[in-house]
Amino acid sequence: MASTMKAIAYSAYGGPEVTKLMELPLPTPRAGDVTVRVAAGSLNPVDKHQRNGTFKALIPYSFPAIGGNEFSGVVTALGEGVDRFAVGDSVVCRTEKTAMRAFAEYTTMPAHLCAKAPTTMPLTDAAGLPLASVTAEQCLDLLEVKAGDRVLVTGGAGGVGLFAIQLAKLRGAHVTTTASDAGKPFVEKAGADEVVNYKTTKLADMPQKWTKVLDAAGGDDAILNDVLPAVEDGGKIISIAGPQSPGCFDGVLSWWMKPVINLVIWARARTVLNAAATRNITYQWWFMVPNGDQLAKLVGYVDEGKLVVNIDSRFKMAEFKDAYERLESGRCKGKIVLEIGGNP
Ligand SMILES: NC(=O)c1ccc[n+]([C@@H]2O[C@H](COP(=O)([O-])OP(=O)(O)OC[C@H]3O[C@@H](n4cnc5c(N)ncnc54)[C@H](OP(=O)(O)O)[C@@H]3O)[C@@H](O)[C@H]2O)c1
Repeated sequence: MASTMKAIAYSAYGGPEVTKLMELPLPTPRAGDVTVRVAAGSLNPVDKHQRNGTFKALIPYSFPAIGGNEFSGVVTALGEGVDRFAVGDSVVCRTEKTAMRAFAEYTTMPAHLCAKAPTTMPLTDAAGLPLASVTAEQCLDLLEVKAGDRVLVTGGAGGVGLFAIQLAKLRGAHVTTTASDAGKPFVEKAGADEVVNYKTTKLADMPQKWTKVLDAAGGDDAILNDVLPAVEDGGKIISIAGPQSPGCFDGVLSWWMKPVINLVIWARARTVLNAAATRNITYQWWFMVPNGDQLAKLVGYVDEGKLVVNIDSRFKMAEFKDAYERLESGRCKGKIVLEIGGNP
């Protein structure tokens, strides 16, 4: 076997020009890891922040750094102590939060973060499942969404939003979402009961109010002046895209960094936090946590025909620049798939 592999990697922090197709050493598995021949990866907005260095004070990378935060593929080797999978299993995975390393011919990842891949869809398309679906499910858990609830999901036509709508409907909730005219058919297909065109209508002007909001659209000003006024006193907003709230990065920070970073986060978010607190509204920014068991449950939904992975676009590995350009457009209707090794 060759000692190197092809990978899409960043040569430094920077703009699109630092993303390159490189020949890099094969990874070495640690105890507890699986080695996977990657079929495909999928892009997420966080890829561009990692490349730009937005989070470099929190999670620094050394270069070259292989990009990508989720993938599908076939297990080729098991690290010491792994009994969750067998060689030859098809898996999907949201990578370790500090790692990236999805966009390469081979990767190694802790087995407990992986789940067996859906059997009812192409393995390459399944790369679009892990990150956004687990994020959506965790947000709905934090909101304690249950049958009969009326939920507002902002950013419904994006990767997370389209999963959030479907998963909230599966729980029996009534879902209102925001989308443009271009996004409307997608959110309706996902099951949204009511669609608010965010380009023409303010949530704040809607006659009804919500107690449970999953914000996947963000914008400090939008949270303050549009989302908060649409929430009932005592309601709850779980945001993945608005201003971060203290404690959200604790899971990836060393003990000595926590007070400093949380103070900075509080200072930046204080207008929103104070406005929410005066009306007894909980505002929390959530940083999703990779979780193989939760992912396995969502794979089950896919195979039962209850959850669909909406594919916005598919690119070959050599077309990675086009894939990143599509991501940066901010107009995706679902997931961008970057085919690496292809379907087995
Ligand atoms: N905290 C976490 O753990 C976490 C995890 C995953 C994602 N995120 C964040 O969550 C956000 C959503 O992620 P994603 O993967 O769903 O993004 P995405 O797929 O890139 O979202 C693109 C979609 O958002 C729609 N959109 C843009 N602005 C909007 C607005 N103001 N109101 C309503 N819809 C709007 C666009 O619709 P039109 O083109 O039709 O306008 C487009 O369809 C991103 O900011 C991402 O960084 C955070």
